[in-house]
Amino acid sequence: MRQKLAALSAARAGAANRAKERQRPPRIRQRFGAGQGRSMFDSVRVRLTLWYTGVLALVLVCLSAGTYWLVERTAEQRTFISLAEISQGFLTTLQSEYKDQLKERTGLEALHAAAQESVDEFRLRDHRFAVLDSAGNVLAENQALPAPREPAGAASQREIPGAVLRNLVAGTAGAPRRLQDLTLGDEHFRARVLEAEVGGSWINIVTLQSIEGERFLLEDIRETLLWVIPITLAIASAGGYFLARKSLAPVVAMSEKAALMGAQNLHERLPVLNPRDELGYLASTFNGLLERLNHSFEQQRRFMADASHELRSPVSIIRGEAEVALSQVRSPEEYRESLAIALDEARRLSQIVDDLFTLARADAGEYPLRPRDFYLEELAADCVHAARSMAAAHGITLTYEPDGEMPIHADEALVRRLAMNLLDNAIKYTPEGGKINVACQRRGADYSLMVRDSGPGIPVEAQQKIFERFFRLDPARTHSGRENSGAPETAASATAGAGLGLAIARWITEAHHGRLTLVRSDASGSVFAAYLPANGAAGEEPEAALAKHERTAERTGT
Ligand SMILES: Nc1ncnc2c1ncn2[C@@H]1O[C@H](COP(=O)(O)OP(=O)(O)O)[C@@H](O)[C@H]1O
Ligand SMILES: [Mg+2]
Repeated sequence: MRQKLAALSAARAGAANRAKERQRPPRIRQRFGAGQGRSMFDSVRVRLTLWYTGVLALVLVCLSAGTYWLVERTAEQRTFISLAEISQGFLTTLQSEYKDQLKERTGLEALHAAAQESVDEFRLRDHRFAVLDSAGNVLAENQALPAPREPAGAASQREIPGAVLRNLVAGTAGAPRRLQDLTLGDEHFRARVLEAEVGGSWINIVTLQSIEGERFLLEDIRETLLWVIPITLAIASAGGYFLARKSLAPVVAMSEKAALMGAQNLHERLPVLNPRDELGYLASTFNGLLERLNHSFEQQRRFMADASHELRSPVSIIRGEAEVALSQVRSPEEYRESLAIALDEARRLSQIVDDLFTLARADAGEYPLRPRDFYLEELAADCVHAARSMAAAHGITLTYEPDGEMPIHADEALVRRLAMNLLDNAIKYTPEGGKINVACQRRGADYSLMVRDSGPGIPVEAQQKIFERFFRLDPARTHSGRENSGAPETAASATAGAGLGLAIARWITEAHHGRLTLVRSDASGSVFAAYLPANGAAGEEPEAALAKHERTAERTGT
């Protein structure tokens, strides 16, 4: 039956997965693409790419502007130096020419001729010279050499007007090192004016240097940058998008997988592509979460299954008894017996339901603790008193040792339940003629409640498990089991618990910030100790408390 069910649910899960598989592509696309009311900026890939491209664009523009500025300045400086050198050279030539001319001519005439000679001698492709006297008259001026592709004679048309030269001279008055730009026709020049004294008269030498080369270079740079920057940006953003896509691929893979996950396949895990990177770490963390979820789901499932299993037997006993009693007319004794059995089972049922309810509320953190002040040793005495008749019925000696007043602030009903659970177990699992000793002690900041029995003990391998829910050792070990060994199984389970007693007891101690331990268990018996903080502090080691408990037990002979 179980196998059949498992096969059925597996088949169902398989079909559901296949259906989801078919759905997946559009769903993922919907999720990560544009459309469906989502803008493309909702994609991390696009945003990353845009940021990256933006920053790169800023860097490129700044870098280009800086480089351009540097080239421009260097070119200007070179022009400046070359203008200074050449005009100085021209002056030297003019001065020596003037000395030569003085041999044949006099004064102004010699200056004139010298200027003309120098100007004719200094025929450079990129430079032009003009000599002006102090009154602004042009003494001499050379013509530009024809440009390689220019028709002959074109250059001679580009004589520099006297007014332009005089303006240049006037422009440097008081700032002799200043350079000026001017345009002649469609050619651009930078001009330097050098004032000098030759043969007693002041003259101005105007040197023009063509800056076409410089202008072409800068224009080339500008044009190159204008297409290099956009192309670089385009390539970089395509690469960036590709990279972002590639590095976010694990996220998409994880989302796809997570989208298909539900309570049925919680055992599946997200793909961890590279456990050492951040996304791998995320996937591992998520898988850890799934692991814990799966674990608690599993626990819940087991709890449900165990609980229904436990509830089934008393219900079927009550039903069976009722059916048998009603099947024919019976004697009043028979009815009485049936009703007694039904009542017993109903009690057991309500006990189990009560325990289950307690645990469910405790799990949900909803069990309200109602602490109040009472004396622990009085409560223990009450419990011992209540258990005495049951112990006596099994020929068990039950002793109790209080250890002074023990005022405590705790939930009295829960602490009573804790004590009763321990006592109930001790009585249930101790053979006839055995001994049970209950002791209350104050040790440091804790109160300990110890229940020591002379029962058969708990096998080592089961000692940790007895605190688990629904864990029970063989029911034949109980009094009822032994007494009813020949009777049907139902009778044996009539007094057996559901294996919830110690789980509840442990929860009660923990809810009070204390703890419950099986201090010792062997063939001579078991010792359970519950520690409750007298005022919320941690307690002593169980072994130390046990030692005292045992000393007391020896003294009193229990
Ligand atoms: N004092 C004890 N001596 C021997 N075995 C014990 C003792 N107390 C508990 N156990 C074992 O631990 C199991 C769990 O106890 P508990 O949770 O109280 O469940 P239950 O009493 O319903 O069986 C018991 O079934 C029993 O096997
Ligand atoms: Mg019990």
